[in-house]
Amino acid sequence: MAAEFTVTPWKVEGDIDYSKLIKDFGTELLTDELLNRLKKHTGELHHLLRRKIFFSHRDLKWLLDMHDKGDNFYLYTGRGPSGHTTIGHMIPWTLTKWLQDKFDCELWFQMTDDEKFLFNDKLSLEETNLFAHENALDLVAMGFNPKKTKIFVDTEYAKTLYPQALRVAKHLNYSTARAVFGFEGDSNVGKIFYTSMQAVPAFLPSVMAGRQIPCLIPLAIDQDPHFRVARDIIPKLGYHNPAILHCRFLPALSGGGKMSASNSVETIYTTDTPEEVARKIKKYAFSGGRDSIEEHRKKGGDTDVDVPYQWLTFLEEDDAKLKSIHDDYRSGKMLSGEIKQILIDKLNAMLKKHQTEREKARKKVDKFFIRD
Ligand code: TRP
Repeated sequence: MAAEFTVTPWKVEGDIDYSKLIKDFGTELLTDELLNRLKKHTGELHHLLRRKIFFSHRDLKWLLDMHDKGDNFYLYTGRGPSGHTTIGHMIPWTLTKWLQDKFDCELWFQMTDDEKFLFNDKLSLEETNLFAHENALDLVAMGFNPKKTKIFVDTEYAKTLYPQALRVAKHLNYSTARAVFGFEGDSNVGKIFYTSMQAVPAFLPSVMAGRQIPCLIPLAIDQDPHFRVARDIIPKLGYHNPAILHCRFLPALSGGGKMSASNSVETIYTTDTPEEVARKIKKYAFSGGRDSIEEHRKKGGDTDVDVPYQWLTFLEEDDAKLKSIHDDYRSGKMLSGEIKQILIDKLNAMLKKHQTEREKARKKVDKFFIRD
């Protein structure tokens, strides 16, 4: 029997079968052929692409065709500000930043303080708005191009977003929303409307420019259902559908599912101290090591389930380094405490740089915001 798992925009749980998701969601596998085509433009492939951490897409071929004809695209992604930023959130943003650098294109970044207020019983609108501004510091710290990056918070950009969201909402009926998102009779009506808000930035720049501009959305695959719904509507409004690149989830420290900002002590935040990082990895990271050192030396560690190894596949850019860690761990030469230490050092080096930039971002962040 297949293991149970759930992937919706609000819940990711269990042992996720990514090939099944491609089938269920109706997306396409990101093939080597398509990656090679992308590589012609970028010169190299980011490790998140090389390792198929971004594994699925919609309309990427079309996007590259348009690009080849001289129709440059913009990037769109976003964040539901339910808490501080985690390492998991930074995965799609890392590829987004790389794409912005390679294609020198605009990024429209949506902060959905409305969504997190509606979907989380415990959070007030003041809190989700505050987190939106905190999370923006992480984006700025990652080095997005200040001239080409627009960050907007839904409640602060509503005058522009709302009329466009209405156009989407008029084509979206309740049965569809219920079938895709599983709403019940007691779901608040704000939830039912929300997808319309997330759809808007996929065509807003075209509305503003008065011409069609292709859009590429890098996201974690749990967000795909919003766009699956939106893709039936956007062409009716007279715009191109967005292309999408889907990534896998950084596993939770305890293994399985994804790392969540709102419900777990097992999460690594961008604001964690080196001691907190070390403590959490040592205490919570699920190990594929064996019960005794003798057994480990004999059988080797299981990289398929070892969370520190899985995390290194997301974070260690150097293929040769990753391979030698893999080989040493699998053969039993490297112990689970050692691979955990490699991850701790990697995370702390990343976070040291990130936290310095994050402090500097406080002075720069205003330049990135658009409001109306
Ligand atoms: N709903 C997303 C979240 O909860 C935030 C978001 C808004 C988003 N627009 C997006 C994510 C576009 C990816 C792409 O995190």
